[in-house]
Amino acid sequence: MMISRTMSIRALLFLGLFQAGQRSLASAPEVKDPPKRIAVVGAGIGGTATAYFLRQEFGAAVKIDVFEPGTVGGRLATHNMGDYEYETGGAVIHPLNLHMKHFLERLGLSQRRDVPGKMAIFNGKELIFEESDWFIVNFLRLLWRYGFNFLRMQMWVESVLDKFMRIYQYQQFGYSFTSVEKLLHAMGGDDFLTLANQTLEEAMLGEGFSQSFLNDVVAPVTRVNYGQSVRINGFVGAVSLAGADPGLWAVDGGNKKVCSGLLYHSKAELIPARVTSIAVKLRPSKAGITASLYEVNYVGDSGSAHSLYDIVIVATPLHQGKSDITFAGFSPPIPSQYPGRYHQTVTTLVHGLLNVSYLGTSEKPSTFSVSDVLTTDTKGSIINSLSSIDPVHIPPSYSRPPASESKVWKVFSPQPLSQEQLRDMFLSWDSTSETKWLAYPAYNPPHRRTPPFILHERLYYLNAVEWAASAMEMSAISARNLALLAHHRWNSQVGRIDQEDLHTRLRGEL
Ligand SMILES: Cc1cc2nc3c(=O)[nH]c(=O)nc-3n(C[C@H](O)[C@H](O)[C@H](O)COP(=O)(O)OP(=O)(O)OC[C@H]3O[C@@H](n4cnc5c(N)ncnc54)[C@H](O)[C@@H]3O)c2cc1C
Ligand SMILES: *[C@@H]1O[C@H](CO)[C@@H](O)[C@H](O)[C@H]1NC(C)=O
Ligand SMILES: *[C@@H]1O[C@H](CO)[C@@H](O)[C@H](O)[C@H]1NC(C)=O
Repeated sequence: MMISRTMSIRALLFLGLFQAGQRSLASAPEVKDPPKRIAVVGAGIGGTATAYFLRQEFGAAVKIDVFEPGTVGGRLATHNMGDYEYETGGAVIHPLNLHMKHFLERLGLSQRRDVPGKMAIFNGKELIFEESDWFIVNFLRLLWRYGFNFLRMQMWVESVLDKFMRIYQYQQFGYSFTSVEKLLHAMGGDDFLTLANQTLEEAMLGEGFSQSFLNDVVAPVTRVNYGQSVRINGFVGAVSLAGADPGLWAVDGGNKKVCSGLLYHSKAELIPARVTSIAVKLRPSKAGITASLYEVNYVGDSGSAHSLYDIVIVATPLHQGKSDITFAGFSPPIPSQYPGRYHQTVTTLVHGLLNVSYLGTSEKPSTFSVSDVLTTDTKGSIINSLSSIDPVHIPPSYSRPPASESKVWKVFSPQPLSQEQLRDMFLSWDSTSETKWLAYPAYNPPHRRTPPFILHERLYYLNAVEWAASAMEMSAISARNLALLAHHRWNSQVGRIDQEDLHTRLRGEL
């Protein structure tokens, strides 16, 4: 959050390796005719990254269709307010999210200029912590209150991140995994599986962190990032805490630009239609053996239609309220919706004047410069966070206005805010906008099995990964994994699927 963390040498090495952009070992000889047609369902960051990586794996000849009934970007979305555009969905990216960084570079996009901000924590009555401009002041305040919990948290998150970073090396060498559990295991062994199957609270109490530290510091972070308490799983909890690291960034012009860029770059065709069902069809092949094809049925502006594909990748959550796709003719059957639900987070943008007294502070609005107010998990708290936000593109002369001026605030809450609640928080406003998201899974470990990556022989499911953690980078990692997996399974290259001990085996390669 405030204390800068040193990047590990290994992470830096991977960064170098990664940006060289060349996969040295993975292009083995083709043993089979390439697929002719591939469908991707959904054009969020997951689907568009899949199209990009599929093109990389299968070459120029294969036809790739991407189905999307809504706006390209999915949960990466912006809203116009006044003269500017603001992020309403996925907003910030970690400095070590290497796929997102790579996309930016390949697409000629840049990072948005950084406008430094200050964080505070609100307990429903008053601000229990307020960041100062001075690093040493913050450090001493935290040390005074929480002892070494804070430093230990940074070390704990870094140790998780260090293992997490291994996935980039594996993918660089072309390795892929058939389940979320195997992917997690390859990164962090049994420790990661345990972490993903217990609550963050259990994991951190087990590591010796204090309950008051969990309540005052950790819960506000999980609330702003996932709208949920410290009872989310420990893996997504660590991802969430990494989201409080310094150096977070966003894409200049809006994060969703990455999605349209990847789509364009992949030379895939965008079909503006909603997929209604996917059926498996048997066809005689050249060799006389029957091969299965997938019939994708869809509805667009010009009515309904269907097309046949060799490979299909579903890149939208198969959950209540997120999509409703019927799978026909599969044995065992594939459900339209997997167990578990998505958690609602409402984004409210307000262009107006904040009532700073609402935060229980006696500071004058003209000097109140906190940009991010996180909240503790207290009974009756109606908001998860309140932030002063900047446009997706920062004009040259821009500086963040103080609270005494009308500006754009973003409130995350589990329920829509009533006019009364808005009146408590704001003195006045000239416009508001509300987006109700089914934002990320409701994480309640210990859990049943995570949904599968492989739904059928050549039918794959990207968003299974969200049950470990939901983030842009997680969808990108899943996209690369499925493009590799689809390629290796097509060509029967079992040597790059579910390999054990990769970390030890690849150490020599560096
Ligand atoms: C409020 C909010 C804040 C967040 N903050 C962050 C953050 O700061 N950092 C971060 O990394 N992540 C954040 N996330 C999470 C991140 O946005 C998601 O993990 C990521 O965008 C998921 O991308 P996706 O492509 O996998 O799914 P989606 O973006 O959901 O894409 C799925 C697409 O499939 C389409 N679709 C659905 N049904 C069909 C159908 N039948 N046929 C065809 N298409 C269909 C949908 O229209 C959609 O466009 C946040 C999310 C929310 C909601
Ligand atoms: C501002 O908030 C305080 C504290 O909640 C409240 O007492 C006051 O009435 C609010 N001011 C206005 C003008 O609404
Ligand atoms: C998670 O833990 C529960 C019980 O604690 C266990 O039954 C289940 O198999 C575990 N799941 C995984 C994926 O490890």
